[in-house]
Amino acid sequence: MGKKRFYITTPIYYPSAKLHIGHAYCTTMCDIFKRSKVERGYECYFLTGDDEHGLKIEKNATAQGKDPQQFVDEISESFKQLWSKLKISNDDFIRTTQERHVTTVQKIFTKLMENDDIYLGKYKGWYCKECEAFWTDTQAGPEHLCPDCHRPVEIAEEEAYFFKTSKYVDRLLKFYDDNPKFLLPESRKNEMINTFIKPGLEDLCVSRTSFTWGIPIRENPKHVIYVWLDALSNYISALGYLSDDDSLYKKYWEDEDCEIIHVLGADITRFHAIYWPMFLMSLGERLPDREFVHGLLMMKDSKMSKSKGNVIDPLFLIDRYGSDCVRYYLAREVNFGSDGSFTPEQFVERINTDLVNSFGNLLNRTIGMINKYFDGVIPEYKGSNTTLEKEIESLVNETIDKYEAAMDDLRLTEGVVLVNELVNRGNKYIDETKPWEVAKEGNIDALASVMSHLVNVLYTAGILYHPVIMDSCDSLFDQLNIPQDHRNYDYIHDFGCIGGQKVGESKPLFPRLDPAVEIDAIKKANGILD
Ligand code: MSP
Repeated sequence: MGKKRFYITTPIYYPSAKLHIGHAYCTTMCDIFKRSKVERGYECYFLTGDDEHGLKIEKNATAQGKDPQQFVDEISESFKQLWSKLKISNDDFIRTTQERHVTTVQKIFTKLMENDDIYLGKYKGWYCKECEAFWTDTQAGPEHLCPDCHRPVEIAEEEAYFFKTSKYVDRLLKFYDDNPKFLLPESRKNEMINTFIKPGLEDLCVSRTSFTWGIPIRENPKHVIYVWLDALSNYISALGYLSDDDSLYKKYWEDEDCEIIHVLGADITRFHAIYWPMFLMSLGERLPDREFVHGLLMMKDSKMSKSKGNVIDPLFLIDRYGSDCVRYYLAREVNFGSDGSFTPEQFVERINTDLVNSFGNLLNRTIGMINKYFDGVIPEYKGSNTTLEKEIESLVNETIDKYEAAMDDLRLTEGVVLVNELVNRGNKYIDETKPWEVAKEGNIDALASVMSHLVNVLYTAGILYHPVIMDSCDSLFDQLNIPQDHRNYDYIHDFGCIGGQKVGESKPLFPRLDPAVEIDAIKKANGILD
């Protein structure tokens, strides 16, 4: 029996520019997990937010002649608008400049110092005077240039606090061994061990004095706390950790009955899989159950990035196609855990094939036949008697079980594919049974049974697709006039529970997209050149 409470988080995004479809990807996947757990009766908490401190933000704000707080306030608002348009059901939105976060991070820093895990030392690195920033060997490259302004950098030293990573390496490795599902996909664990841990981890520099846009250390305020220690702490500061009201922390973090999942992109695995567990170990707090590393969404073969300007604007897609199409595309097209690419061609093709031709069409055909042959009344289920009917009924039951297992295991794309297959099977079932011929033969009972099986397939698909494409599934429930108390998981295992009522008004779930027109529109709006 799995845990009945669920806490899921996205990374907190940098408010340095507009969010692109790659960011929308991660947040949408978390939203799907959360909704699917809520619908199955779990108590859930879903956190997202933004990461507002650091030199980059400070510089971006200055470049626009804005005060950093004003700058992040504006961008943060635009994030919230995007999430609301994508129908993201987050329970909280944490901003690292909020008082509640700042205070907790300061207390965390103090606790780490009291545990003797942080000491004052000297940071040595490649320093850019212009940007007032330190860079690592890799960042400065063989020519020793600042990766931001491309001016020469020089070796410099400054006083800084360090976290004793060495103290936790063995415990971390043991934790990986004891918890083989902590870091997924599995290949990521080997990457952490071979690339970062085995070559030897240096103590982590956790403070800066070269800029001020950060959280000051209470004990020595000329230092600000390293942005990653600040940012990672959001996962617990938002729950009230070390604050007067820590009820959410107790419920969603401390309680072993809650499953804790962080979802993140491959580029930030190191911080989540190495440093975050170490900070938590030092604090004496529980570690998350799982960290799932998703792939990156690319544009054809190059990485989508704000700096390259080759990004797809999720708002454009939502405004033109609706949030369901965007959510569905993201969940289905990119195998969760692997890299994927966005192309306008695939987007249009995916919507037309899966949503218009398969799902929408199955509903449309079924309602059409029920109107034609049964005056709009859905025939009641009278058992599965033929081989085909038995096959359909077992496929429905199997699909539900496999889908639940896939979702619990974070195999999200597999979950969606299972529903695709069920819907495709429904369409094939119509071709196999040829209801129009059964009608001609006057075999009303057989015809009624086909209709009942089709409606129950659609009902199951509607429930299982719901966390991904809520609006369309709600419309399906309305069109089939599914009783309100059946629009959830309570009856899903009860094949045949739908029937007897009159169908509602029929309308297409998704409009068919004209590929030539839509591909052109997406390319133009996002500045994609052929
Ligand atoms: N602020 C840090 C995260 C701190 S979490 C405690 C950060 N922010 S970010 O805005 O740069 O990136 C946030 C997330 O978006 C990362 O997980 C990153 O992998 C993800 N993505 C950014 N571009 C992406 C794609 N093109 N595709 C998929 N995800 C992408 O890092």
